[in-house]
Amino acid sequence: MTRTWKEKLSGQIEPELGREIDIFETQLELRRRGTFDEKVFAETRLRRGIYGQRYDNGKRHDGIRTQPLNFPSGDLTKGPETMWDAPGMLRIKIPFGKVTPGQMEVLADVAGEYSHGVLHVTTRQDFQLHYIHIDDTPELMRRLASVGITTREACGNSVRNVTACPLAGICSGESFDVTPYAGALYRFLLGHPDCQDFGRKFKIAFSGCSEDACGLVKMHDLGAIARIRYEGGSQRRGFTLYLGGGLGAVPHQAKLYDDFLPEEELLPTAQAICRVFARLGEKKNRARARIKFLVENLGIDKFRELVREERRILPDDHRWTSYLDEKPAWGETPLHEASATVANDTDSDYGEWRSSNVFSQKQSGYAAAAVTLPLGDLNSYQLRELAKLARRFVGENVRTTVDQNLILRWVPEADLPELYRRLKALGLGEHGASSLLDITSCPGTDTCKLGIAASRGLAAELEGRLRDLNEEDEEVKQLRIKISGCFNSCGQHHLADIGFFGNSRTLDGFKVPHFQVVLGGQWAGNAASFGMPIGAVPTKNIPEVLNRIITAFRNKRQASETFRAFVE
Ligand code: HEM
Ligand code: SF4
Repeated sequence: MTRTWKEKLSGQIEPELGREIDIFETQLELRRRGTFDEKVFAETRLRRGIYGQRYDNGKRHDGIRTQPLNFPSGDLTKGPETMWDAPGMLRIKIPFGKVTPGQMEVLADVAGEYSHGVLHVTTRQDFQLHYIHIDDTPELMRRLASVGITTREACGNSVRNVTACPLAGICSGESFDVTPYAGALYRFLLGHPDCQDFGRKFKIAFSGCSEDACGLVKMHDLGAIARIRYEGGSQRRGFTLYLGGGLGAVPHQAKLYDDFLPEEELLPTAQAICRVFARLGEKKNRARARIKFLVENLGIDKFRELVREERRILPDDHRWTSYLDEKPAWGETPLHEASATVANDTDSDYGEWRSSNVFSQKQSGYAAAAVTLPLGDLNSYQLRELAKLARRFVGENVRTTVDQNLILRWVPEADLPELYRRLKALGLGEHGASSLLDITSCPGTDTCKLGIAASRGLAAELEGRLRDLNEEDEEVKQLRIKISGCFNSCGQHHLADIGFFGNSRTLDGFKVPHFQVVLGGQWAGNAASFGMPIGAVPTKNIPEVLNRIITAFRNKRQASETFRAFVE
């Protein structure tokens, strides 16, 4: 008799995660039998990262009329107007983007077996699978849990993935490595009773520095920037804390909560913030329920006062500081000894890849290499092969990035040409990571129910044209393009030099897809400023508009003028 995955993996899953999945499996069965309310079931599955997907209401507009989609389970639903058999999306939490080769292999397996074989890296360092069936989710979650991955609270009104700069620990500009702090806060808040009653989601990010920073702290509900203070001749670690940032239709830059919060206060302060948000945050109107609105209404000073009061009365919890004792032992171990660059490689593309995709680490003789994933996608085969490359070159040291790429850290510099050759053979050797050629896009109308425009289609089209353009101007090459399929801004278009988001306009009685153009956002400096909306353009004209923007910046800017200054 074939054994179920539950039987096969018994003993390999952390008990708390295993219990969670068992509970969900029971709820799934009750819903199947019709004895579990569909609204409650929708909330319960969302809290486990199981989203709906476009057309799951059983209807599809073919351009002329709406056609029904018939599913075998008939009227059975997994939420209001969400048909049971309709394909769905699963978001898989990857705290601070760290993923091991063993995890990559399981991710590759489940993508091949339960979805359409494509893995998508998201703008918050997660993985997503599309076209999954709800019946498969408990098994899928168990297989992920067996390698320490959870989908718990990857969606719903909960603490979402905790993100961090992908170069944390190896970046020469950082104050210190934020990884152990991000990990501790993630573990502490996952399933925490004080985080179960939010009116909306809550996103946290860490950054190792404030200037040339890639942690996007200021667009987050809660953001922490590493900071060292010198007191009486000794160093003290802490964080500059920001609160109440967010994108969406009403973007907010986060407010400064504390210039220096000592490290031991990070977890209790985050807990106190969550309690205040759960108690006072809006619960009915989802459009006003993010913490940014509460901070705005109360004012940051009043909010700080409430949090400090809450902090004072919190019962002690050993987890607030226990991780600090383990922290000195934290640190990644390089797989191989460091070695210096070998200069004379014969592949001409290698030089281009090296200059755009490779970052020297602060640890001499090592480099981090970005694997550019077009539209954030790679297939099961590529991920499995990439796991092999990781085992060969860097061991455990791989991270996802908010630019929807992967980074292999701790590559001995002498190994870079060989690594490049192998990536190229896998179709993963594109140069231009995090540049003009590396467009970020949300799922848009490909799979998202809320999508108004085909953001991925536009991104693919623009990327193709830009690669053909062979841009040589270094400043132009550094511009970032980000696209969202609607105003919700999952593609983070506010942070791009050149951003687009989908909207639709009625022209001569017909709905015509448009993209709103947003210029001058600043990704660096922890999302230093948001872009300015310029106007809506029919989708078919976007390539020409982009061409004009780029040409104007190339030819008309003053020496050393930034793109932001140029468009202002
Ligand atoms: C499947 C359908 C999705 C729905 C219904 C959805 C819904 C939303 C909404 C309503 C917002 C506005 C923010 C707010 O004020 O709450 C938002 C923002 C955002 N979403 Fe999504 N989203 C979806 C998919 C995704 C995907 C696939 C990603 C990629 C990981 C994503 C990542 C983000 C990010 C990064 C933001 C902006 C950050 C922020 O406001 O804090 N979303 N989403
Ligand atoms: S920006 Fe809009 S279209 Fe894109 S994933 Fe978010 S909700 Fe969907």
